[in-house]
Amino acid sequence: MVGFLNMFGNVGGAMRCVSEEVFQKAARVIPGGVNSPVRSFQGLSMSPMVVESGLGDLIWDVDGNKYIDYCGSWGALILGHADPDVVRAASDQMAKGSTFGISTAVEEEIASKIVSLIPSIEKLRFVSSGTEAVMTALRLARGFTGRSKIVKFSGHYHGHLDSLLTQAGSGVNYLNPQASSKGVTEGALMDTISLPFNDFKSVRALFQSFGREIAAVILEPIAANMGVVLPEKGFLEMLREETKKAGALLIFDEIITGFRVGLKGAQGKYSIDPDLTCFGKIVGGGFPAALVGGKGKILDCLAPLGQVYQAGTLSGNPVAMRAGLETLIKVERDGFFEELFEKTNRLTRPIQEALKHKNGCLQQAGSMFTLFLGVKQVRSKEERAGVSEPLFAKFFRYLFERGIYIPPSSHEAWFVSMAHTNEHLEYTAKCVTTFLQEEC
Ligand SMILES: Cc1ncc(COP(=O)(O)O)c(C=O)c1O
Repeated sequence: MVGFLNMFGNVGGAMRCVSEEVFQKAARVIPGGVNSPVRSFQGLSMSPMVVESGLGDLIWDVDGNKYIDYCGSWGALILGHADPDVVRAASDQMAKGSTFGISTAVEEEIASKIVSLIPSIEKLRFVSSGTEAVMTALRLARGFTGRSKIVKFSGHYHGHLDSLLTQAGSGVNYLNPQASSKGVTEGALMDTISLPFNDFKSVRALFQSFGREIAAVILEPIAANMGVVLPEKGFLEMLREETKKAGALLIFDEIITGFRVGLKGAQGKYSIDPDLTCFGKIVGGGFPAALVGGKGKILDCLAPLGQVYQAGTLSGNPVAMRAGLETLIKVERDGFFEELFEKTNRLTRPIQEALKHKNGCLQQAGSMFTLFLGVKQVRSKEERAGVSEPLFAKFFRYLFERGIYIPPSSHEAWFVSMAHTNEHLEYTAKCVTTFLQEEC
């Protein structure tokens, strides 16, 4: 495809020599050249992108090539890159000092904002990553209930903590989708039970036999780490009912769906009242921040009030809190999500149309979606077995050469931000539909 000129006048695939050089150098000092595996473009037969800057819906690589970005730092950037209000809020705070390891007033401001927006959250604690939030949620659930077992679902990803690294989604699939990571002991997984998503029967059977041993059920209420997979009608309600009956907690991992599928997240969309919720990504406004929140009596088990230990040098970092607060202020404005969803539909509608007679499907939740190539419907990890990885690699390269950057794995979701322009969305739809006509 060398010589092809895309919308931005870039020569597709031809000018990435600086990226390649940086990557080669990085590979000498950083394992695989990356600080998170999925950035390595594994399985795509091309060297990964090395980014220089971003603005709005665009990113530039170190060779000066420009791309429309549908990854948005894996969903964190709902306002797009370098939103001027977020930049100002973070810069103002940095000028006053970037970390103290002592409480700052902005922590209360953003915590109160989240408590006022999310009915299931009475109290919350900030941490620095989604993994930490989930780890804290599990420890809290065990500390509160005095039980050990945790139930999760295959294809759901909750970060890289030992006890959930089995049958996980996202980058873990490139290891061995059935097993866990090396270095995770049998002991660490002894109390983890993984069930197929959307399988009512297996959940009911488990609760019937072991309900009283289960501390919590944790899930992505809308799965996004095996591609976007919606819960079947009644599935979340059933989980709420079974956990309540058994005295177990229901934990929603809304690290992707929080402030993404609507102002109140997936729990608002489906009217479910979880005991604990994890948020991340958007709540940090592009900085490292995440949280676990929920019922006050559960959160009060955390030290210093209770006996469940949790701590962090950079927890509640004031720069991240300012950026996150500014983001939430913009996201809560009237009409934000209607406008964002309309933007997303401008892209997904023509693709849905083009898919009618093709072997593929597009599954969407608000401003995130996945285009599955090779299957007509995905309701669980088991059902995505037919997804064609070689075709996805071809699709990724086709778009990349046309100045469009999508998450570099078939297991991920595309994210549309408020900064995406109609022109770029329509151009993307045209490229995708042309690919479907020519290649599928
Ligand atoms: C649903 C979900 N939970 C947890 C995590 C882990 O978050 P982090 O990468 O910030 O540790 C992720 C990361 O993508 C996620 O998608």
